[in-house]
Amino acid sequence: MGTPASQGQLAKIARAIATYVEYQRELGVLGFPRSVPGHAAAARPAPRVAASVDLFADASVAQARTLSELRAAIGDCRRCKLAPHRTQVVFGVGNERARLVFVGEAPGHDEDVRGEPFVGRAGQLLTEIITKGMRLRREDVYIANVIKCRPPGNRNPEPDEVATCEPFLLRQLEIIAPEVIVALGKFAVQTLLRTKTPITQLRGRWHDYHGIRLMPTFHPAYLLRNPGDKRLVWDDIRKVMGVLGIGGAPA
Ligand code: URA
Repeated sequence: MGTPASQGQLAKIARAIATYVEYQRELGVLGFPRSVPGHAAAARPAPRVAASVDLFADASVAQARTLSELRAAIGDCRRCKLAPHRTQVVFGVGNERARLVFVGEAPGHDEDVRGEPFVGRAGQLLTEIITKGMRLRREDVYIANVIKCRPPGNRNPEPDEVATCEPFLLRQLEIIAPEVIVALGKFAVQTLLRTKTPITQLRGRWHDYHGIRLMPTFHPAYLLRNPGDKRLVWDDIRKVMGVLGIGGAPA
């Protein structure tokens, strides 16, 4: 048996639990399942990937005050079944004080290798939108994904992976506190807005994500296949520039 916990340690544990419960409540969790000894669920074999929450790691996610604290709290994440397949966690890149954040779906092969979002072909197009279209530098904005690990074979992320990973994005956005989010592509848009409405109906209009203005637009990878729709993305980006009060290239 170990030594009994001191008052100070108990107070620390109580604070961690309170922070974690409040954090889950903000995410919309209304209750926690009860684990009943001898219940069928308790007899199931342990999952290969730890499904249990590491209370202290996740309390430190909720308590992170800077992006580097948040990155440290995420650590060498093993919270979902993507972990064994990825090379590294692709956390995000850019300005911690950015007024504008771009959110994509998940890292692809190039991002998984380099550890930075949007560095492949689609990323080059996003960089052009930022630099040539908006006349900003990539370092002026922040770029992240809903999912921080590459899904094998670039398949769509699954609901349990989104549920595990989205809190990290939410905390990233709370820390950065941007004025505008641009959500890139059907998956990011539908996930963040909790809707199945087609992106063609969502794009070009303002939406709300936890109190931040969100503009959905097409994913740069889609634009590589459908260059004719660049005009629509430019319309959406001009609305963003209008709200941010920035100039940019003439239409
Ligand atoms: N597509 C995404 O959605 N995100 C990336 O980081 C790269 C490609």
